[in-house]
Amino acid sequence: MSATKEPQRSYLVTGAASGLGAATARYFASEGAAVVLADVQEEAVTELAEQLGAHSRAARMDVTVESDVVDALKKATELAPLRGVIHCAGILTAGRVVSKQGPHDLEAFRKSIDVNLIGSFNVLRLAAAELMQVEPDHEGERGVVVLTSSVAAFEGQIGQIAYSAAKGAVASMVLPAARELGKFGVRVVAVAPGVFETPMMQAAPEAVRESLLAQTVFPHRLGKPHEFAQFVWHICHNRMLNGSVLRLDGAMRMQAK
Ligand SMILES: NC(=O)c1ccc[n+]([C@@H]2O[C@H](COP(=O)([O-])OP(=O)(O)OC[C@H]3O[C@@H](n4cnc5c(N)ncnc54)[C@H](O)[C@@H]3O)[C@@H](O)[C@H]2O)c1
Repeated sequence: MSATKEPQRSYLVTGAASGLGAATARYFASEGAAVVLADVQEEAVTELAEQLGAHSRAARMDVTVESDVVDALKKATELAPLRGVIHCAGILTAGRVVSKQGPHDLEAFRKSIDVNLIGSFNVLRLAAAELMQVEPDHEGERGVVVLTSSVAAFEGQIGQIAYSAAKGAVASMVLPAARELGKFGVRVVAVAPGVFETPMMQAAPEAVRESLLAQTVFPHRLGKPHEFAQFVWHICHNRMLNGSVLRLDGAMRMQAK
């Protein structure tokens, strides 16, 4: 058996304790990359990082806190040159503009914007600043930031007002960020997943999950986290992917409810 090679690249994955982030961290580690798994769920990322082996580390990180993100980025650069940040952390919120209980709770709206939008921008700005310090490769590329939007950015359902607002803004940040950072060899891409089988989706009411499953086209099932991870790995390695929001949804277009 050959000796384990030292990884040439490191990646920071946020939201790595669960769902799409956990699958991404697993996939990247299995491809030989060094990975920092960051999440507010410290125990879960510590356990997963241990499973993934010597080139993985865990970081307790709240995406809305500057020092947490800076520390997690530093951990990644200590493992190997940082080549990408995959930002999967997010929260699903539900609530109508006006429900039987009255108008949408303003704090609940702010929370969705804070974690899903401000958190994404916080990671984007700090990741970009770190990537700009990396030695460029033969074509001048330093690295890539992959954000996670959602198909709810484009066809938000009734009850998704706060989530759609945040994910729509994440999608809108991609092009201006890619335009600005291009001259430094930093790419910015967002994935807009359809409906994937993760703890976030499992937490949705049964009727909602059944209705979403019925709206799938082909394949007639929910996406698997591994399929998201595989796609993100490709994004990290295909430099023509830049400045776009890429749907990964099996032709699904969510209906009003
Ligand atoms: N699952 C889907 O169908 C789906 C569809 C479209 C978009 N998305 C988006 O994909 C991303 C991942 O979703 P998932 O389904 O894997 O969800 P998930 O709930 O399984 O995982 C999300 C992770 O983010 C972490 N997190 C939440 N707030 C955080 C914070 N402030 N700081 C750090 N970590 C935090 C959670 O602890 C959790 O581990 C989210 O941004 C979600 O909005 C998911």
